[in-house]
Amino acid sequence: MPSDLALFLGQLIRRPHQVVALAPSSADLARAMAAGLGPDTGRVAEFGAGTGRLTRAILDRGVAPADLTLFEMNRDFCDRLRDSFPGVRVLNDPAQRVADRCPPGLGAVVSGLPLLSMPDAVQAEILGGAFAVLRPGGVFVQFTYGPRPPLAEAVRRDLALTAERGEKVWGNLPPARVWRYRRAAV
Ligand SMILES: C[S@@+](CC[C@H](N)C(=O)[O-])C[C@H]1O[C@@H](n2cnc3c(N)ncnc32)[C@H](O)[C@@H]1O
Repeated sequence: MPSDLALFLGQLIRRPHQVVALAPSSADLARAMAAGLGPDTGRVAEFGAGTGRLTRAILDRGVAPADLTLFEMNRDFCDRLRDSFPGVRVLNDPAQRVADRCPPGLGAVVSGLPLLSMPDAVQAEILGGAFAVLRPGGVFVQFTYGPRPPLAEAVRRDLALTAERGEKVWGNLPPARVWRYRRAAV
């Protein structure tokens, strides 16, 4: 069986527009993405789980495997995720389906999706679906490699989200920043 890195690089070569990253997230970035989660977060969804770098960090924070649902479009990654994380629900579905597949009341969504490479309409579908099932105060966590926020400004505004600039993780290839989105209080 190939290592997680070999599997990731193989899929990057086959499906560059879907994977859109030079390498899996580092352990430092994964820890930063999962910071603030814990057993009290309740149910969590992860988007674009890949080979499971962020998944491991989410579980290490004390989120129960039964409370975690992964959305991953790549079938080979899903097979690896099922082997690596028994008890976690692994869906070979696009993140756009979150509102069909998860009942309302999620505490957090953690996303490794290449959001900025997606058209605004797709970003809106993904974030709109996530906030339809996140409970009030629930958080959507996303990283990005560039200086800009990881979500188009028009999409953020239309969905009435607040954006919080989080930690910059230098120990990642390339360095990445964590952002947290919440529904603005009305
Ligand atoms: C940049 S990789 C991140 C992998 C992993 N989370 C990490 O941080 O190492 C992006 C992942 O998102 C998946 N993906 C892309 N579009 C998706 C979508 N619409 N729904 C679910 N997964 C998607 C890709 O197959 C890939 O595994």
